[in-house]
Amino acid sequence: MNLILLGPPGAGKGTQAKRLQQKHGIAQISTGDMLRAEVKAGSVVGQRAKAVMESGQLVSDDLIIAMLEKRIQQPDAACGFILDGFPRTVPQADALDLMLDRAGTPIDAVIELKVDDAALVDRIAGRFTCAICGAGYHDNFQTPRVEGTCDVCGGHEFIRRADDRRETVAARLDAYHTQTAPILPHYRNTGRLVTLDGMADVDTVSREIEAVLAQVPKRTVTIS
Ligand code: AP5
Repeated sequence: MNLILLGPPGAGKGTQAKRLQQKHGIAQISTGDMLRAEVKAGSVVGQRAKAVMESGQLVSDDLIIAMLEKRIQQPDAACGFILDGFPRTVPQADALDLMLDRAGTPIDAVIELKVDDAALVDRIAGRFTCAICGAGYHDNFQTPRVEGTCDVCGGHEFIRRADDRRETVAARLDAYHTQTAPILPHYRNTGRLVTLDGMADVDTVSREIEAVLAQVPKRTVTIS
């Protein structure tokens, strides 16, 4: 099964993609996570992306498309993937169509998580993740069961993203509304776009996503 999760920064794409990966065993492909790994490694891609990301702007299409094309060819994506944070512009959506046409692997569902801008700012500013396993938390909505200890791996170190400062969030929201929202009609026209209320709590959103996936016709995968 191949899915796209769309929505503004903080809509819950990463939270839901991780749950889907665990439950269905399909690869979460987050272009944001990939870029952050490049920045951390100090690679050429990371050096090009760092300042752009920290300003809340979008990284250039050519760089992102090349990175994504390589990633979906990895063995773990062969049984399906969840695109989290891609596509984000009309050229990226067009490039994805071409890639998937060539590979003969269509998108099964496109799920948009809709959340009010004001709620997004609170969500993003309160977000933190486990430094070891990447499990996501929030100061108010999703705290670890034992304070200071990761529920998943037991780690005690947590990190906050450089672009999660309140002043950067406005630029990220603006990039979403001006550059990403215009791809929604493209998917609406294919009849595969489903819009869900991302203001609901995490478990409710998960249940609604599962209900959408239950309607996706099963495909036969031929292994040659
Ligand atoms: P990226 O890493 O993709 O970030 P984003 O799209 O801004 O999305 P976020 O990760 O901030 O939010 P999310 O929707 O995953 O929400 P989450 O689940 O964490 O991109 C970062 C940057 O990289 C971009 O700005 C750009 O520069 C660059 N980039 C990446 N991809 C690119 C591309 N394709 N093209 C160009 N540039 C690209 O949830 C947020 C918080 O809310 C968490 O604390 C969570 O616990 C909480 N939460 C989640 N769901 C709920 C809920 N239902 N109720 C209450 N709280 C909730």
